[in-house]
Amino acid sequence: MNQDRIRIAIQKKGRLNNDSLTLLRCCGIKFRVQANDLYCFSENLPIDLLFVRDDDIPTLIADDICEFGIVGDNVLQEFELNNPTAKLTRLKALDFGQCRLSIAVPNNWSNNKLNSLNNKRIATSYPALLQQFLNKNNIEANIIRLSGSVEIAPQLDIADAICDLVSTGKTLEENNLRELVVVMQSQAQLIKNNKNLNQTQQDICDLLLRRINGVQKANESKYIMFHAPTNSLTEICNLLPGAETPTILPLEGYQDKMAVHAVASEGVFWVTLEKLKQAGASSILVMPIEKMLD
Ligand code: PRP
Ligand code: ZN
Repeated sequence: MNQDRIRIAIQKKGRLNNDSLTLLRCCGIKFRVQANDLYCFSENLPIDLLFVRDDDIPTLIADDICEFGIVGDNVLQEFELNNPTAKLTRLKALDFGQCRLSIAVPNNWSNNKLNSLNNKRIATSYPALLQQFLNKNNIEANIIRLSGSVEIAPQLDIADAICDLVSTGKTLEENNLRELVVVMQSQAQLIKNNKNLNQTQQDICDLLLRRINGVQKANESKYIMFHAPTNSLTEICNLLPGAETPTILPLEGYQDKMAVHAVASEGVFWVTLEKLKQAGASSILVMPIEKMLD
């Protein structure tokens, strides 16, 4: 193994796979992945990608088989509860893979109170997180450990309730289940172990983090352009969300109107555009920003 490269573990199949690859591509890492590849090498940076089950990612990093990984808080915290001495660092929350771990019950469950779970069987792939939640809430229930298809457990009478990830809620709905309580919120994290990197690896790590910051900032930001009456420029510029120093340019042939260009660092919503228009702005254009570097 070349010591000057870094290895990043990525989910092979599932909710995080696509967004993880998109983020790395937006960071300028070039690679070609084929359907059943277990790993691939970047063509332009000393980075290797390993495609694995998300549940295996924390172990691969703790065992130093990979330096980095992209994994949900849910899998990470379950691992940490089961391996209290393993030292994994969250380098960056990645703003994708948002979901929640929830306890769900059949639609006909008549009680909304938490203590209705007492002495019941709850199926889950997250036994440690569930146990911690039950302890905190003084509930005694029987945890049934399942590695997949948790949502069908009540229909098969393997369990009375489940504790599983909910993203859109579609899976619960399809299985006649409803959320009783949220155990935790989760999103994708870039993680690392606490082993020291050599200088070359550290430089790649810094480059990766810098670029991820740039991608996140660009995703949140919009470039906005409009025409504004000269006498209401200040009022109008104050309506721009998170734009520090707009560029104000003369408009050929007009004395009483200027062109305003600005980067808005927060989402630009229809309400903002309508307010700008009411204040006298016209020809309003909002454009996505592809890359940003301070
Ligand atoms: C989760 C969960 C449900 C589904 C919920 O699986 O186990 O099956 O997502 O999503 P929904 O609310 O949008 O229907 P995931 O894709 O994370 O797979 P994994 O648990 O095998 O990692
Ligand atoms: Zn999984």
